[in-house]
Amino acid sequence: MPHFLDIHKTAPAALRGMIDSARMMKSARNGRPKGTPDDDQPLDGRMVALIFEKPSTRTRVSFDVGVRQMGGQTMVLSGSEMQLGHGETIADTARVLSRYVDLIMIRTFDESVLLEMAEYADVPVINGLTNRTHPCQIMADILTFEEHRGPIAGKKVVWSGDGNNVCASFLHAAGQFGFDFTFTGPPPLDPEAEFVALAREKGRRIEIERDPLRAVEGADLVVTDTWVSMHDSQSTKERRHNQLRAYQVNERLMAAAKPDALFMHCLPAHREDEVTSAVMDGPHSVIFDEAENRLHAQKAVLRWCLGV
Ligand code: CP
Ligand code: NVA
Repeated sequence: MPHFLDIHKTAPAALRGMIDSARMMKSARNGRPKGTPDDDQPLDGRMVALIFEKPSTRTRVSFDVGVRQMGGQTMVLSGSEMQLGHGETIADTARVLSRYVDLIMIRTFDESVLLEMAEYADVPVINGLTNRTHPCQIMADILTFEEHRGPIAGKKVVWSGDGNNVCASFLHAAGQFGFDFTFTGPPPLDPEAEFVALAREKGRRIEIERDPLRAVEGADLVVTDTWVSMHDSQSTKERRHNQLRAYQVNERLMAAAKPDALFMHCLPAHREDEVTSAVMDGPHSVIFDEAENRLHAQKAVLRWCLGV
């Protein structure tokens, strides 16, 4: 079953095919109104369930619009309103939904929910974010980088801040797309050692550098994300702000990267915390291209999963 569960679990050739397909679908739309269907309708007659156990703006809207542009239909489901949120097992939910829909996209907390859904579903399952990873985001980020700067292979990506779920998928992508990756942040918030080791096994240069200014030297891309993720307790907020303040992406940090370095953030951002408005709205930033590309990249992921 072609599930899209994580970047390191998907073959590099398949990932590359999805990026190419996304680029082609994006250019084929040629600036036409967003609600108009694509010329080809590969998802004609297909029904897609979009399950959210956490809030979402980009993932929800981009999947919904993407499926519709390709001729399919969607149903957006809130986990808490399903029996899933009231004691029905994930395995039973997966088996039931497989009788109704052609594909399941789920955003959830513990990764085990995603994995159990995939194990018991008879249809493809897409990871729309778990506490541990966010692969659809990084597909959009690769597409965005390559649109602006050409192939990402051999480039240097620097993550400044919390080594969270989005950071984890970037590490997976380093191994699969062949770029180097430096993490800069405080030790308690390092990315998972298992993921660092995996990328190193694939021959990539993966560095942990505590000094943010040194970390971004030679960077082609600087990335950050919220200091407190949806699964983190709000009670950690003050401590995390203290731990992470030195890793804010600001104009001084961007000035230490390559002059043409890009800045990315998956959004939503907390302006003046992990990143300043001067950087978000400045010349290095491609954050809104990145958000748009969720749509195009996920259309390619959907087609790959459905084999259409
Ligand atoms: N970047 C991202 O996944 O955004 P949402 O939480 O709005 O879906
Ligand atoms: N790290 C963030 C990403 C949001 C898209 C979170 O999990 O809340």
